[in-house]
Amino acid sequence: MSKRRTRHKLPPPPSSPVVAGLVGPMRTVPVSVPRPDYAATGRPADRATRAIRTEDEIAAMRIAGRVAAEALIAVGRAIRPGITSDELDRIGHDFMVEAGAYPSTLNYRGFTKSLCTSVNEIVCHGIPDSRKLADGDIVNVDVTAFIEGVHGDTSCTFLVGDVDQESADLVSRARDAMHAGISVVRPKARIYDIGRAIEDSVAPYGYGVVREFIGHGIGDQFHTSLQIPHYYDPHNDTVILPGMTFTIEPMINRGSHRLEMWDDGWTVSTRDMQRSAQFEHTILVTETGYDLLTIPSEGPPAEVLFNDVRLGLQPAP
Ligand code: MF3
Ligand code: CO
Ligand code: CO
Repeated sequence: MSKRRTRHKLPPPPSSPVVAGLVGPMRTVPVSVPRPDYAATGRPADRATRAIRTEDEIAAMRIAGRVAAEALIAVGRAIRPGITSDELDRIGHDFMVEAGAYPSTLNYRGFTKSLCTSVNEIVCHGIPDSRKLADGDIVNVDVTAFIEGVHGDTSCTFLVGDVDQESADLVSRARDAMHAGISVVRPKARIYDIGRAIEDSVAPYGYGVVREFIGHGIGDQFHTSLQIPHYYDPHNDTVILPGMTFTIEPMINRGSHRLEMWDDGWTVSTRDMQRSAQFEHTILVTETGYDLLTIPSEGPPAEVLFNDVRLGLQPAP
């Protein structure tokens, strides 16, 4: 008996792939804002990492998570055709600095901007530049804030103007994939349960789940040694325990999971030039399940607030 395979027809590669614009100078952060260890050198200190946070760190991470979530919403409200990703960077940067936070990506391993902005076939780590968002684009904005000695990391993919149905579906299914991964987090579950839930959630659509970039432990360091794959990895049988804090941030590709790196050493594209969407939250494992740390003080987080809003056509909420 032959195995039946569902065929998923892909659109032709884009006639206008994303091209890099000009990258402006690094923005400055007032000396009054406390910085992470790498801010001056670009190199995070190589310290042993703990998987379990203290009560004080957890309280601090709620603050860092709130600032990141609110900065993401502030950037989301500004998204419309014609705005450049560097203008979005300025909005995110100013929001974090005014809140007393350091934008964690600034000089992290030499990254020169305060956000990552990843358009269409760009999977992650896009550098904000002078390229204008176009009607029909999708753009992931990834914000990380450092305040009270800890980081909060969150991202959302936004629709710019009038987006085709296939892209809108990709975006909403990527959001559902993140929530599928989050929903299995509880004490005694295993890390591989997260990736399995994410893969199961997108399997019906034939999408590719990115393997080379994964979620991560987070706390006083931006990326700790705890690894959170978004695919099923039977070897990652680490038991999930109360007090762990980590991100879940699946990158979901319309076509193959395979990637290509731009010459700038940061920008990651799909190899087949099909579009990719991503969502991210920072999560705390509690005694009974989980808490989302990257939520605003009031109202819903970005992925709910901007759910299916065609930005630039309807007034921002
Ligand atoms: N925020 C990204 C993450 O989710 C990391 C960006 S690191 C940078 O882990 F250097 F590219 F900014
Ligand atoms: Co992250
Ligand atoms: Co991030």
